Amino acid sequence: MKNILVTGGLGYIGSHTVVELIENGYQPIIIDDLSNTNIGVLERLKKITGLDVPYYQNDVCDITVLRKILVDHQIDGVIHFAAFKAVGESVQFPLKYYQNNIGGLVSLLHAMEQCNIKNIVFSSSCTVYGQPDISPVDENSAIKVANSPYGNTKQIGEEILRDCSFLNAVALRYFNPIGAHPSALIGELPLGVPNNLVPFITQTAAGIREKLTVYGNDYNTKDGTCVRDYIHVVDLAKAHVKAIAFIDKNSTNHFEVFNIGTGNGFTVLEIIEAFETTNQVKLNYTIGDRRAGDVEKVWANTDKATNTLGWKAALDLNTMVESAWKWQLSLS
Ligand code: UD1
Repeated sequence: MKNILVTGGLGYIGSHTVVELIENGYQPIIIDDLSNTNIGVLERLKKITGLDVPYYQNDVCDITVLRKILVDHQIDGVIHFAAFKAVGESVQFPLKYYQNNIGGLVSLLHAMEQCNIKNIVFSSSCTVYGQPDISPVDENSAIKVANSPYGNTKQIGEEILRDCSFLNAVALRYFNPIGAHPSALIGELPLGVPNNLVPFITQTAAGIREKLTVYGNDYNTKDGTCVRDYIHVVDLAKAHVKAIAFIDKNSTNHFEVFNIGTGNGFTVLEIIEAFETTNQVKLNYTIGDRRAGDVEKVWANTDKATNTLGWKAALDLNTMVESAWKWQLSLS
């Protein structure tokens, strides 16, 4: 495989994956509708890689455009990031999520089938495990009823891939991606008030937000705050390159899922402490009520990814929060 279509390739995880693909000798081609990023990322990708990456500003729901790109660029495989990801918004506007996340995936798969392309890596999420009975969770842990339309689109997305027997597909179940590229040229660009913890921390430290609210300190965890498996976005991006190589070697495998995390759980207070200590910045925060729908604790067993993909997270928490802060500072 050589030519890889990256849908949502100008987004947070997509842009980091484009860099890793180029560094590993692949030719990425990007399609992105700019609904949650901006065109400046393309120029930044050129600064990092020295290459002009072919780019189409289109919606993945547009099957005619997709077919043309697949044929014109002789695409060998697809990494599909293009999707909405705000849990709260998905509760408010479920059809927006089903239309884009499920409609987009179905259009893409139709176009792939018609063009005889079977290789795909899909962005899934640890949200499919809901509140697990025990952590770490492995890929055989129970899939729980989704607690949001967003989570449901990830579960349904996996089921669609499983049902499409013409595919050679991998779903990567991401835990909590944070951090930014060491160049500080690309990173997360939340529109409006961030929902996720680390962008909220960095914006508070930068004075854009007054203070961070820690959502609850009465959970059954070591300090009462929720536990997550935070993973550096660069490690996560590398997992996609390994998944492409796996698909290339195992063309008879129809569908595989992999957890992509570090295997370590950290509380919200531990993240704040790591941020303050590593960056020598004081954070204004307060303890508030629990956030509806939050999972108490979840972290990954990553043995399958290590043994089968030959991938393991390498970057530690300090590197994650340091790069997140460097990125935030570069924005001001
Ligand atoms: C969730 C999903 C994840 C999904 C992501 C999309 C789970 C376990 N994870 O991530 O799959 O991709 O949404 O956005 O369902 N927090 C605060 N204050 C804040 C923000 C967050 O205390 O202002 C806390 C949360 O309560 C949570 C932790 O920080 O304990 C991480 O929150 P967040 O970054 O929003 O990610 P998840 O909710 O874990």
